[in-house]
Amino acid sequence: MNKIEKYQMLVEQIRSLIEGERDAVAVMANVAAVIHEAMGFWWTGFYRVMPKAGSDDKELVLGPFQGPVACMHIAFGRGVCGTAWEHRQSVVVPDVEQFPGHIACSSLSRSEIVVPVLSSAGEVVAVLDIDSKELSTFDETDREYLERICAFLTPLF
Ligand code: SME
Repeated sequence: MNKIEKYQMLVEQIRSLIEGERDAVAVMANVAAVIHEAMGFWWTGFYRVMPKAGSDDKELVLGPFQGPVACMHIAFGRGVCGTAWEHRQSVVVPDVEQFPGHIACSSLSRSEIVVPVLSSAGEVVAVLDIDSKELSTFDETDREYLERICAFLTPLF
């Protein structure tokens, strides 16, 4: 099966898996698990936009994920995740060492994609972050299908 065929199956699987579900964390947990297992990525998970303790600011806080331990807090505009949040756009990073400000949760991570999850009002409420141990794992196909998957989550927010 090529990558497009895998993603097509994945999209249908996720569509039926989360149909009628209302709890965003439960949905994010199973979405991360399904993507991680089907695609064999190194780290697959969500960071949620949450109020920052003791301030009016918001930050990204680690949510449901599959893979090794990861950093728990990411500021707006920081790293690949914070950049995707700031610009409300997916970010594809072929080589993390070439991305200024990349946050290295694992030294084994070589390439990365981050896709924002938007609320019904169009606000970024979370990001989907996926890491690979190989360089240049992610391309426009990954972006297209992962954006489609993240759009399934919009009605939950
Ligand atoms: N590399 C990310 C941090 C999260 S970990 O990859 C799981 C970043 O630069 O935002």
